[in-house]
Formats: sequence, structure tokens, C-alpha cells
Amino acid sequence: MGEPESFDAWSHARLARVEAALQRVLPAPDIAPQRLHEAMRYAVLGGGKRVRPLLAFAAGEVAGAEPDRVAMAGAAVELIHAYSLLHDDLPCMDDDVLRRGRPTCHVEFDEATALLAGDALQSLAFQVAAEYRLAEDGIAQLEMIRLLASAAGSRGMAGGQAIDLAAIGRQLSVPELEFMHIHKTGALIRAAAVLGARCGNGLDAGALAQVDAYAKFVGLAFQVVDDVLDADSSTATLGKTVGKDAKDGKPTYVSAIGLVRARELARGLREEAIAAIAGFGERALRLRQLADFIVLRKF
Ligand code: IPE
Ligand code: IPE
Ligand code: MG
Ligand code: MG
Ligand code: MG
Repeated sequence: MGEPESFDAWSHARLARVEAALQRVLPAPDIAPQRLHEAMRYAVLGGGKRVRPLLAFAAGEVAGAEPDRVAMAGAAVELIHAYSLLHDDLPCMDDDVLRRGRPTCHVEFDEATALLAGDALQSLAFQVAAEYRLAEDGIAQLEMIRLLASAAGSRGMAGGQAIDLAAIGRQLSVPELEFMHIHKTGALIRAAAVLGARCGNGLDAGALAQVDAYAKFVGLAFQVVDDVLDADSSTATLGKTVGKDAKDGKPTYVSAIGLVRARELARGLREEAIAAIAGFGERALRLRQLADFIVLRKF
């Protein structure tokens, strides 16, 4: 066997598959109600790193999953993610006007349309997860859908967002911040990796738990880096307004422990993530590379 392809080439090919899956499942813009469908497409197809689908692919490789299944599982997670960003940007939440280098959905369309587009994207995610074959047997697929629901719900992402909003103007302790971050961001990242792994049937419960542990560290690291970039990047690079967390009085890892220690923490979480999948060998190459990308990213 030769050298494995570069991370860039690997991710490029997977991104194309995810884009194709998203194009396939999103309603065409000329189908009524057109404005709602345009807003859904605007929120999903306008860029984004697609980290969650890439994690699904990387975990899928460990489990010998079929790429077409992983693409649909990744697309379902990305639809939930796009909905979460859409609502996160609304005036009643973070009130942001810039996302992925473009006006946020409620600025481009209007608030009610953005709200409904978010609702419809969440429904579409579950429709996709139920409609396409993701696992060999139906019971396994049902468990995957349950996992996605629980990651998106009040004990996962939505719950984390509630904690975030309730914390404005207060400084949280590090354990409180960790609790908030592993819910608002970590839960969906964790679901992405585990769903990718479950698209294959090559992993026993112990190995699945290792993927889950990896993703828990990576999910927390992802939001720690998001906090760092908000404080130490540019609006042009990030495609969203920098300095917004401090301006809004949001407690973050930067406000709690400072930029230097927050960066150190992210690097430490990367080590822990990689240690969690020790023993997987070359099959876990892409999981290791994604942990690097998540911690070293500039946007
Ligand atoms: C931003 O997520 C919001 C968080 C959960 C931290 P991403 O940084 O993955 O956003 P996109 O999808 O690449 O735009
Ligand atoms: C958002 O966290 C987490 C979500 C569930 C959307 P942030 O509010 O920090 O995300 P950005 O910085 O607006 O992308
Ligand atoms: Mg927010
Ligand atoms: Mg926000
Ligand atoms: Mg942020």
C-alpha cells in the first residue's frame, strides 16, 4: 500500500459527497413556499466548514461504513447544525448580522422566515435520518435517530443554548463552562462521530465508546477554540463578527482563564481525544487529523 492521500484531498472528496447529499435533500427553491425554501437553502448551502459530516466520515472509516450512508447521516447532522446557527443568530439570541461571510438569514430574509427555516431544517434532518438507509437493520437505525434527537434536544444542544443565554452578564466557573460547552456544541459533534461509526457494523460497544470519548474531547475543544477565535481573529477571516462574546457579556473560556490558557486547554483536549482512540491504528488517521484541524484552525 502507498502513502495515504493528504488530509486536504481526503476532506475535499468527502465535502463533495456531503454537498451532493444536502443538495439532494433540500427542497428546490422553486417549490412553494419558495421564500421558506430559499431561506433553508441559504442557511445550509452558503459555506461552512462541515466539520460534523467530516467527523462522521472519519469515524465511519474506523467502522468500515459505506460512504453513501455516512453522507446522509452527516447531512442530517449538518441540517441540525445549520438550524442551530440560524436560531443562534436571531435577535432574541445572539443577535448577529454576519454568518459565513454573509448577512445572517433573518437579515437577508426576515425574522419569521428565519425562525421557520430553522424549524423546517430540524424536521428535514429527522426525515432524512428516517428515509435513507443508514444502518443494516431497522433497530440500529432507530437507535441512531434517537441519538440524534437526544443530542439536539433539551439535554443536548438546545439545553446548552438555554444555559448560554441564562449566563449572559455572569462569569461561570470552569466546570460550569465545561457543562455549557459540552451541551451547546459538544453534543452534536459527539452525535456526528457516533452516527458515522454506527453507519458501519465493524465496531463493538467498547470501540464505539472510544469513538464517543474521542468526540467528547473534540467537541469541547471545538467550542474552546470558537471562544478563542471570537477574541483573537478578524471578522474577515471568521466570517462572523469578532469580539461579540465580550461585547455581549458572554462567559467564555477566554473570559474565565484568558487566551493563553484557553489555547493550552484546547491542545490538551486534543491529546486526550487522540489517546481515547489509541489502538485503532491507521484506521483512525482521519480522526487524528480532524482533532488537529479543530484545535489548530484559524476560522
Ligand atoms: C459555529 O460552528 C458554532 C459552534 C457550534 C461553535 P462552526 O464553526 O462549525 O460553523 P460553520 O458550520 O463552519 O459555519
Ligand atoms: C453556538 O455558540 C452554539 C450553537 C449551538 C449554535 P456560539 O454562539 O458561540 O456560535 P457562534 O460563535 O455564533 O458561531
Ligand atoms: Mg450563541
Ligand atoms: Mg452565536
Ligand atoms: Mg462563538
